Amino acid sequence: MARINDNYLKLSAGYLFPEIARRVRTFQQAHPDAQIIRLGIGDVVLPLPASICDAMNAAVDELRTEAGFHGYGPEQGYEFLRSAIAEHDFASRGVTIDPDEIFVSDGSKCDSGNVQELFAVDARVAIPDPVYPVYLDTNVMAGRTGSADQNGRYAGIVYLPCTAQNGFLPAPPDEKVDLVYLCFPNNPTGAVARREDLARWVAYAHRYDAVLLFDAAYEAFITESDIPHSIYEIDGAKDVAIEFRSYSKTAGFTGTRCAYMVVPKSVGGIAADGSRVDLHRLWTRRHTTKFNGVSYPVQRAAAATYAPHGRDEVRAHVDYYMGNAALIRRSLASLGLEVHGGVNAPYVWVRTPEGLGSWEFFDALLTRAHVVGTPGAGFGACGEGYFRLSAFGKRDNVEEALERIRRAFG
Ligand code: MLT
Repeated sequence: MARINDNYLKLSAGYLFPEIARRVRTFQQAHPDAQIIRLGIGDVVLPLPASICDAMNAAVDELRTEAGFHGYGPEQGYEFLRSAIAEHDFASRGVTIDPDEIFVSDGSKCDSGNVQELFAVDARVAIPDPVYPVYLDTNVMAGRTGSADQNGRYAGIVYLPCTAQNGFLPAPPDEKVDLVYLCFPNNPTGAVARREDLARWVAYAHRYDAVLLFDAAYEAFITESDIPHSIYEIDGAKDVAIEFRSYSKTAGFTGTRCAYMVVPKSVGGIAADGSRVDLHRLWTRRHTTKFNGVSYPVQRAAAATYAPHGRDEVRAHVDYYMGNAALIRRSLASLGLEVHGGVNAPYVWVRTPEGLGSWEFFDALLTRAHVVGTPGAGFGACGEGYFRLSAFGKRDNVEEALERIRRAFG
């Protein structure tokens, strides 16, 4: 028999969202009449904006013609999309990113999971707690950790606690690490980092020759004007940071799949012989070897999000979800619950009531209100005692869920 990668055996349970789906299925089978409302995984519910579908359809029509047919595209993404990204996502905020530094992909989950391949197996990794589980699990799979303890914390990882006391903003550690994962606006807590918070991380990375892996998948949900949307808005970040962006939550691409990663040519790492290596060169090699590009119609659709009409439609979707977030915040706060997030992010992070653990509250909410959320403990030990509600729902479902929560826990 073939030897397996034993590191997979260190992973404590199933991946968080399939595990939740499994529990919900079991409950639904036992209670077939229950009308379950899902505010768990952050999956969008509004249909794709019309102008974006039109662009996708037009691209499909091109593919029917000899002149407009496209086979393999450039692995890194079509120039038309990378230029639009550089102009609209970065130049518009005073940041210069060369289209060559942008790698179009099929999702930030894949990008943030794959990026660790560039680094040594003994690279020291700092990960916030709670955190989007992909960052941690992919490092476990790669063999960068020991086993998990009873709290699910893996030996070898430098955990950065994010608590109500520190405003869910992790502080740089006192020791050297090689890689730091950051996500702002944050999934799951909804916290945002201000300029000075990010500047501390950039200074840390310069001091310790660390690389920041900055997940900005939720930047479009920022409502306050003084919050940076990109790590590159901070001086010096282009030398130390890789950034992830996604069309999933903004333009409704969770099923369509399109995202991108920025790897500036100025970010480097160290080879075993002590020489400096550009990460851009390594990622180009990795991307062109393992990925054949996002389909032409999907890239045309992504580019349409930057046209005036597309921008308005995307903005309307974001506003709709943030309207849900405001409702969730207000309603839970009126029950006397401690509520965080939901102002610059589509996630509301709430202290569980009645002293319940987060999985206990998951079960109570499902059985008493038929509402699904995400237990904070699923994002890490510091998430215990918290619960995440996603604002990605239909308005009437969100209102109904809140009314049921009021009846069950008010
Ligand atoms: C979430 O609910 O945390 C996200 O939808 C997960 C993801 O984007 O993969």
